[in-house]
This record gives sequence, C-alpha cells and structure tokens, in this order.
Amino acid sequence: MLSKAWKNRPFIARLPLFQILRHQSDDLRYKPSIDTQERAKSVTSFYNQSKIDAIASKDSVRLVPSAMLYTYKVSDNSDILRSVQYLHKELPVRIAHRIAGFRNLPFIVGCNPSILSVHELYIRAFHLLSEFPPIKDEADEAAYSKLVKQLLDDHRDVVTSLAEGFKQCSRFLQDEGMVKTFLDKTLTSRLGIRMLAEHHIGLSEKKPNYIGIICVNFTPKTFIERKVEVAKRMCEDKYGHSPEVKINGHLSCSFPYIPQPLDYVLHEMLKNAMRATVESHLDTLDRMPPITVTIANNDIDFIIRISDRGGGIRHDHLEKIWDYGFTTSGQTEDDRVSRGLFGQFIESRAAGAMHGFGFGLPACKAYVEYLAGSLQLQTLQGIGTDVYLRLRHIDGKHGSFRI
Ligand SMILES: Nc1ncnc2c1ncn2[C@@H]1O[C@H](COP(=O)(O)OP(=O)(O)OP(=O)(O)O)[C@@H](O)[C@H]1O
Ligand SMILES: [Mg+2]
Repeated sequence: MLSKAWKNRPFIARLPLFQILRHQSDDLRYKPSIDTQERAKSVTSFYNQSKIDAIASKDSVRLVPSAMLYTYKVSDNSDILRSVQYLHKELPVRIAHRIAGFRNLPFIVGCNPSILSVHELYIRAFHLLSEFPPIKDEADEAAYSKLVKQLLDDHRDVVTSLAEGFKQCSRFLQDEGMVKTFLDKTLTSRLGIRMLAEHHIGLSEKKPNYIGIICVNFTPKTFIERKVEVAKRMCEDKYGHSPEVKINGHLSCSFPYIPQPLDYVLHEMLKNAMRATVESHLDTLDRMPPITVTIANNDIDFIIRISDRGGGIRHDHLEKIWDYGFTTSGQTEDDRVSRGLFGQFIESRAAGAMHGFGFGLPACKAYVEYLAGSLQLQTLQGIGTDVYLRLRHIDGKHGSFRI
C-alpha cells in the first residue's frame, strides 16, 4: 500500500536525497533551471527543517479590520512601507505554521500527489518569502509585491487540489476529526494570508471606493445580483435551465465590508440552492419556484438568507452535510441529470463546476466563523432549505475578528 503511494508521488519527490544533492553539487555540467532548483529546495526541506521550525515557533500577529480601515485612510507611501514590512515578517510565520500542519498529517495522506503538491507549494513560498531581503524603499516594495502577486496566482488552485487529494485518500481516513481540523485550519489560514496580501496590493493600487481589500460602501444587493448572474450562468451551462432569483429586504443598505470572502461563500450557497431547485423540478423546468434572497441589516451584523424550494435535505443526510467530502453529487438516479437530457451541457462545458467535492458547506462554515459570523441551515424535508449567513460589521463598534 505504501509503496504504491510512493510510486504516485511526483517524480522529484521520489528521488533519494543523495541523488538530488548530487545533481546540485557533484555534476558541474548540470545547470538546473530555476524551477528545478526551487523544487529541489522544497524536497531538501522535507529533511532539513530547522529554519521552518524556528519560524513556526513564533506567534502570528493578526490584524483587526477596523484598524486596517482607519490606519490606512490616507494611504501615503509611509503607510505602504509599513504595510509591506508587516507582511515581510508575518507571511513566513503563517506559512511555516501551515507547513507544520502538513507534516503532522498521517504518512499515507501526506504522500498523496495532490496534497504533496500543495505542501511543496507552501515550502517554495516559505523560501521565497523568508529569503527576501529587508524592504527599505519603494523599489524593494514593488519587487516584493510582484513576488506576492505571483504567489497568489500560483496558489489559486490549492483548495481544489486539497479537495481532490482528500477525496482520493478518503478510504484510508478513519479520523474525521483530524481531516476537519486540518482543513478548517488550512483553509482559514489561507484565507487570512490572501486577505493580508491582497490588502497590501490593493493599498498600492488605490482602487476607487476601496481601502486595500475593504470596500467602503459595500452594497449587499448589488453584490448579490452579480453573484446570482455568475451562478445562473453556471447552472445554465450544466443543466440548460436556471431558477429565477428574487432579492428583498434591506435593498438600499450600504456599509464598509470585505467582499472577497463573501464572494466564495455566496457563490457556493447559490450553487447549492440552484442545483437542488433544478434537480427537484426536472418535469417542470419551465415553472421552477424562485430562490429568494433576503438581506437584513442592523448595528451589529448583517444577515443574508437564501431560501430555496429544492425539496430540502434528507434526515439521514443532515448530520453529514458539514463533513468535508460529503456530497450527493453523482448519486442521482434520474438519467436526465446523470446523462440523457443534460448530457450535451455536461460534456461540452465546465463539467463538475456546479457541485462535486462536498467542500461547499464545510469550507464556507469555516470561512464565516473565521470572520466571527455563522452559517446555519434550516430544512423542511420535502419542501426546501433556508440558509442563514450572519456576518459582523467591521467598524469595530461591537467587537470584531482578527485577520
Ligand atoms: N440548498 C440545498 N438543498 C438541498 N440539498 C442541499 C442544499 N445544500 C446542500 N445540500 C446537500 O448537501 C450536500 C453537501 O453540500 P456541499 O455544498 O458541501 O457539497 P456539494 O455541493 O455536493 O459539492 P461542492 O460544493 O464541493 O461542489 C450536497 O451534495 C447536497 O446533497
Ligand atoms: Mg456545494
């Protein structure tokens, strides 16, 4: 079993250490590319971990959004320099904590090629960021921001890789709690790192109505309309039809907020509601009941409720829906969903994007709780489901979370 997992590792990770080192030092004619050098560095880091361990022993310094909002109100260059110096210290610490998390995974999980590739990405990011020289002026800042942007891009598909990896090794996993703790921590830490990095990049870019990642006049209605459009397009790509979405409640409210994490959460919740609605109305696709999104705003928080009439969630599934990897995708016996009527859509467009890994609900819950909010679900079996998304304001007046 283990030797099979070993064979599945990426080629470089299968090379014995002495062979990699020999490539680097003994054979003077051998000129490794930058990429090969970085990978070899990642691999040697599996063995030589003292620098990562030393940095992982430090605590991370988390920021309060209201401080980010008010400190950088008039972003001049000294603010930007302070921001980048904070990142320069903070990012290696957070990444080292995550690398420690990968090292603590059971061996059989850590060897999975998709999970190993993410582990390597973190090691590579750790080296690039921790070896970056101290930042003293604008030119250093520009070079550092360029590196951070590149890393954000390189790490774009991490969640999908982790979802694939854990799906592949699910049969070896008995300890649900271990998987949940690892994924909750890895995903929320990734969210925090991305928010900090994008905040810094945003400060330099000075987008209108934004201070870094904070939209100063965030309007839930407009934001939801945009997300509905995207989810409807995806639903139509997959099924050829999509339900109507009505938005009501506090339509004109507007306040400072960080749209970035909401982007993911709303998208996932709308996809779930649309899928349930379509799959429970296969005989009446031209008369599907609408999905209703209600916005409620008050001094402490704002709430978004997504109500669908997609038949609800079965009693025996209710306990499992918050587990990573639980999905009813692929279980539908109706031929019109699995092949038949929708076959041409499924094959010709982005198949699988609508649902599939069982990551939507648990990942969104982890993100929302990281933001000091809550994600709850009430289902009426046989009728439909209401999802309640509660998020705290970031003005700091009633307590806040830290990024
Ligand atoms: N609004 C809903 N109505 C009915 N069932 C739902 C609804 N939302 C979630 N579910 C059920 O909960 C399961 C888990 O949802 P989750 O979003 O975590 O995963 P998924 O949609 O199957 O895959 P992924 O979101 O990773 O693409 C779904 O497969 C579905 O059976
Ligand atoms: Mg989903």
